[in-house]
Amino acid sequence: CRVRHYKFHVVSKQTNRLCSSKSIVTINGKFPGPTLYAREDDTVLVKVINQVNHNVTIHWHGVRQLRTGWADGPAYVTQCPIQPGQTYLYNFTLTGQRGTLLYHAHVNWLRSTLHGALVILPKRGVPYPFPKPDDELVVVLGEWWKSDTEAIINEALKSGLAPNVSDAHTINGLPGAVTNCSTQDVYNLPVESGKTYLLRIINAALNEELFFKIAGHKLTVVEVDATYVKPFKIETILIAPGQTTNVLLNADQKFGKYLVAASPFMDAPIAVDNLTATATLHYTGTLAATPTILTTPPPKNSTQIANNFISSLRGLNSKKYPVNVPLTVDHSLFFTVGLGISPCPSCKAANGSRVVAAINNVTFIMPTIALLQAHYFNIKGVFTTDFPANPPHLFNYSGPGPANLNTETGTKVYRVPFNATVQVVLQDTGIIAPENHPVHLHGFNFFVVGRGVGNFNPKIDPKNFNLVDPVERNTIGVPAGGWTAFRFRADNPGVWFMHCHLEVHTTWGLKMAFLVDNGKGPKQSVIPPPKDLPKC
Ligand code: C2O
Repeated sequence: CRVRHYKFHVVSKQTNRLCSSKSIVTINGKFPGPTLYAREDDTVLVKVINQVNHNVTIHWHGVRQLRTGWADGPAYVTQCPIQPGQTYLYNFTLTGQRGTLLYHAHVNWLRSTLHGALVILPKRGVPYPFPKPDDELVVVLGEWWKSDTEAIINEALKSGLAPNVSDAHTINGLPGAVTNCSTQDVYNLPVESGKTYLLRIINAALNEELFFKIAGHKLTVVEVDATYVKPFKIETILIAPGQTTNVLLNADQKFGKYLVAASPFMDAPIAVDNLTATATLHYTGTLAATPTILTTPPPKNSTQIANNFISSLRGLNSKKYPVNVPLTVDHSLFFTVGLGISPCPSCKAANGSRVVAAINNVTFIMPTIALLQAHYFNIKGVFTTDFPANPPHLFNYSGPGPANLNTETGTKVYRVPFNATVQVVLQDTGIIAPENHPVHLHGFNFFVVGRGVGNFNPKIDPKNFNLVDPVERNTIGVPAGGWTAFRFRADNPGVWFMHCHLEVHTTWGLKMAFLVDNGKGPKQSVIPPPKDLPKC
């Protein structure tokens, strides 16, 4: 294994999209950011140099960070932000991981433009467990607002109402010819007839789950969230913010141009945009004037198409890549995830209250010292360890919600002993509105053992859990008005964030953290903080 050195200059860049121009925060002036390449078991050193007027942190989404929480990145969870003019060296090892992941800023809404691909190749000489592709292409899906995203969320927090939806989605930074203002902004995926391509697809959008499809071609799914799956062929994939999906694409046509479409999925009756991003799959040798072969993106409420994809996912479970799902459970947790209300006397537009989000009715309040620092240095008063294992009161979760919609606030973590096995059932609530919540856990991969509509039934549903070949992921969509269940082994000491990866819900408080200790105290179980760890 090698040590890979990267330099990330965080710089502003004036950028033009949809006939308007704005200054965005980027890595090295690129949107999406540069693709970072490494191999399984390599050590990666990324020096981040903050040259903008914003606080910055970077999260390596899906990297396990075994005992190296200081390099994980979420602001005020594992580190305080890198302030303007400061630098920080992220230092981590990709132990036993290979596949596609993403990195992104993890403070406020900066990740809207500060994100990119992290490609982890298998160890030298180790083949993929699927036919070797002739070439590989990275496809980063994103979301674009004409105005400044920090201003949008700050405005929403002031008013108590929901923020504006985006003005476009993007494929590798470009919306496609979706308005008169973007006819030139079309990403071209070049392919040669007869070759097979590995597409490494990443959803880096802030607030939308997306469908992805290519006219005239089926996709063979081989990996999600940097874990191999049993290959299957499908027309349309579903990908939530923070998730990654590797597919094989057979360029089995002779010539032509084929539409690539990324469009929102939302099976809840709430306002979301309906904008499709497009790109072109372009066979070499096809004349520029050739008309593009079109495809219709699924309507945004296509629950059936979403379910088709999700229910096809199975862990590869081969000899070399077994599925090590915990068969027994030490900590069984039931978490409601959803929206709520909090009093806000200054929020006139929202009648003196504001929309918040919560897990088990707790709206998480960010501390001003990072949780991991407070844990490691035993600083009192930063967090409490009384995060509830169950909702405070029973109600018909997937129904209309209880009479009192007010949530409780706190900086609470759930404590788990080292190596304990944990089962989490995430139940969406219908409070204000049922909605999809792609929930991401830092520091672990988990096994998705079950999923269903309506209320989780603790007597019946566990009997149908898949404990043989569940898919292993780091981000899982909780269906609107339904539930999902996962298991993991708490084999990574530290403080690990868990939150909805719809950025608006994270901002509203749909987040919590697990504290994993080995019983001997943090100094024995977590590596010491690096010298340049940003000051709080
Ligand atoms: Cu990709 Cu805590 O985030």
